[in-house]
Amino acid sequence: MRIPFVAGNWKMNPPTIAEAAALASDTASAVGGIAGATRVVCPPSAALQAVARALEGSPVEVGAQNMHHEAKGAFTGELAASMLTGLCSCVILGHSERRQLFGETDDFVNAKVRAALAAGLTPILCVGETLDERDAGGAEEVVRRRLAAGLDGVGTGDAVGVVIAYEPVWAIGTGRAATPEIAQEMAAVARGQVAALFGSAAADEVRVLYGGSVSPGNAASIAAQPDVDGALVGGASLAAGDFAAITQAFASA
Ligand code: 13P
Repeated sequence: MRIPFVAGNWKMNPPTIAEAAALASDTASAVGGIAGATRVVCPPSAALQAVARALEGSPVEVGAQNMHHEAKGAFTGELAASMLTGLCSCVILGHSERRQLFGETDDFVNAKVRAALAAGLTPILCVGETLDERDAGGAEEVVRRRLAAGLDGVGTGDAVGVVIAYEPVWAIGTGRAATPEIAQEMAAVARGQVAALFGSAAADEVRVLYGGSVSPGNAASIAAQPDVDGALVGGASLAAGDFAAITQAFASA
């Protein structure tokens, strides 16, 4: 039995730390009572401490949106895993915005995955194809390749603890979510790749999320898919009530 996992990726929102703390408190009130799902919010790094404080005593976990793989040093603007471990349980890695806007490569993402695991953080490893890649018939290959690269050098014991997020780039922030059929098909591709890399027992255990324009309106149909174990929610996680409705859909699927 895989426990549903629903995470809110707040991206560079809300604009102030005070608002982030308030959103965290509102989210805790809205989803605190929804048992049966791992619930996570991923605020901007500057707000991690305030959000962690606002969530003290709540079952809602805190995640970071990125980190660097080196332990310390001259990496202006970056954060090391050890700076997150006291505040966070998990960290989003390889989000398509990091890959597309900030040039992150599969090798770089892989180094981060390994560093996060070594520090005891759960990586939320994001993979997904662009519209061009899908139109060219390459969506499955992209997901397989990014997973093989992102999980390179990871042991089976660690791999089962990685949370995989299938996020098609064309569905992110567009209001055009993947159909439940595509979400299922691609989550199954991701799980199949975990089976190929680490064996079928690992594939049975690993959680695969869908992300891209998840909303209260489409969450139930996506949650009903057998290989989709949760969601990585962008815009809708900025409204506590919407995030709660999505979380409830996955918790009761
Ligand atoms: P939206 O839910 O806003 O489409 O964002 C999805 C996403 O990128 C989550 O990481």
